[in-house]
Amino acid sequence: MPQPPAIYGIIGNPLTHSLSPLMHNAAFKALKVNAVYKLFPLLDDEELKLFMEDLKEEGNPIFGLNVTVPYKEKVLPFLDGIDPFAEKVGAVNTIVISHQRKCYGFNTDGPGFLSHLTEVGFDPVGKRIAILGAGGTTRSILSVLCLIPERPQGIRLYNRTPGKVLQLFDDLKQRIDLSNVQVVNSVDDLNIELADCLINTTSVGLGGSDGLLVDASLLHPDMLVYDVIYNPKETALLKAAKAKGAKAVNGLGMLYYQGALAFQHWAGVEIEEGLRQIMRKALQGG
Ligand code: ATR
Repeated sequence: MPQPPAIYGIIGNPLTHSLSPLMHNAAFKALKVNAVYKLFPLLDDEELKLFMEDLKEEGNPIFGLNVTVPYKEKVLPFLDGIDPFAEKVGAVNTIVISHQRKCYGFNTDGPGFLSHLTEVGFDPVGKRIAILGAGGTTRSILSVLCLIPERPQGIRLYNRTPGKVLQLFDDLKQRIDLSNVQVVNSVDDLNIELADCLINTTSVGLGGSDGLLVDASLLHPDMLVYDVIYNPKETALLKAAKAKGAKAVNGLGMLYYQGALAFQHWAGVEIEEGLRQIMRKALQGG
């Protein structure tokens, strides 16, 4: 009798645009392992609770999960263990489920972002960084930037809703040294003209939506403009950055690195270069 496949997948809402199945199913296929990566849309907190309770039942075939909006924080109470970085961030995007049905949480968004910065040749040590947005992505990016031993010189944070960014700052500062971080009240106070790097974590530009949160004339050739959006590949912000001679990078690399790190947590081993390339190609084709 053929064995049923091991199941992996992603929980969140909405999930229709997720590229994660492409990357992980390509890896399973290349490794010839009997496993499949699925989408698990969960409509509300009650569905999350039932799903997480069911996960702990003997015989459940799910052994690994990614977690996305809006459950990265909400999933914490259901975990049996959490790794130190994810605990500091206060958000989990990867869960490993043991054969004893214990759930362990990790955050690969922060390290994934850092790996991509390294790949594009940007070293955040001593740099001036401006961040737009205060959602889950900012939480992970800000945490990882503040936890590297030699930190950026200064990080300025702006969000449309001031209460949200202040709440994020107050929460993170309980666990992470944010002494180099300043929450600002207007886009102008981000001092983009002096920044070495501008990071957009907002959804402005997603799906080709118009709008530019910053004054394009302030972008300059000595900066990296990083937009976590990868659909479209080039947002209005990245187009404006290129036009001003700045280095413009989208978030597909971050998606790839967080996924590769998640896969490593599930597999329990480091993945080889050949497999990495297969995973990345699968994403780029998607
Ligand atoms: P993620 O987890 O991917 O970071 P999120 O938690 O939904 O996503 O956060 C979305 C971010 O985009 C928020 O910072 C949001 O700002 P508000 O807190 O003011 O809602 C920001 N955002 C979305 N649409 C925006 C817009 N039109 N102008 C400015 N910011 C916007």
